[in-house]
Amino acid sequence: MATALDINPVTPLIGAEISGLDLSKPLSSNVLGAVKQALRDHLVLFFRDQDLSADEQKDFGRQFGELHIHPARDRNGLEGHPEILYLNAGPDTSRVNGDEWHSDVTCDAEPPMGSILRLFEVPSNGGDTLFASMYAAYDALSEPMKGFLSGLSAVHDGGPNYIDRAKRAGIYKPDKVFPANVHPVIRTHPETGRKSIFVNKIFTQQIVDIPKDESRAILDFLFQHVAKPNFQCRFKWAANSIAFWDNRCALHHAMWDYYPEVRRGYRVTIKGDAPF
Ligand code: SIN
Repeated sequence: MATALDINPVTPLIGAEISGLDLSKPLSSNVLGAVKQALRDHLVLFFRDQDLSADEQKDFGRQFGELHIHPARDRNGLEGHPEILYLNAGPDTSRVNGDEWHSDVTCDAEPPMGSILRLFEVPSNGGDTLFASMYAAYDALSEPMKGFLSGLSAVHDGGPNYIDRAKRAGIYKPDKVFPANVHPVIRTHPETGRKSIFVNKIFTQQIVDIPKDESRAILDFLFQHVAKPNFQCRFKWAANSIAFWDNRCALHHAMWDYYPEVRRGYRVTIKGDAPF
């Protein structure tokens, strides 16, 4: 039996703050089961006052699965910690990570199931992260549109995003190849069995087997649809807050409204499986 946690939902559709846990220590199997259930129920979990070391954050992540190594870690890596993505925005930044609605690294053949971001330095104002339920976005579609989209797949290509960022960071290598893979436009969550929209502005380039102009029109419609405010919640960070999101059913968007102030943190990402 799972233990009852202190859970405070942010909206009925997405987001919940959990208090009373110390994530620097291994969770008991009951508490771990309850956190997993909370993630299934709320899609993104928030924790406050978690002063974790890089190793403790990795250990927390490993309780949910094997850790993912980012294909663009040469730009955002952390020395000695290949599993950590170092997010570091400040006065010299020309583009931050995650500045459009997306799910992490969907260009991978097996995109990450979840991501755990801990910020240790936050701007005096702003720098929120927005999250959106792709279950809710799917549920809001008409039945004919659900049927039409269910038969489609799309190319998710890491190149355009990662090459732009590498060029801005002055570390572009023309011979470096980034992953590109085809995924269903509507996916089924392997644990909840619920359907969600699985396209995003950063990685999804083209619907396969249809003309380019039709693909553009469908993707533009979906990118607008998934960004509707009624599917969203918004998280206001403080130093040592953690957000843990499920990439299989939620999109997120990092708000870069705090330039030239600094926002820094580490992200640990958990491996996932091939969408179906
Ligand atoms: C990301 O992991 O996509 C960035 C999220 C954030 O910085 O809030």
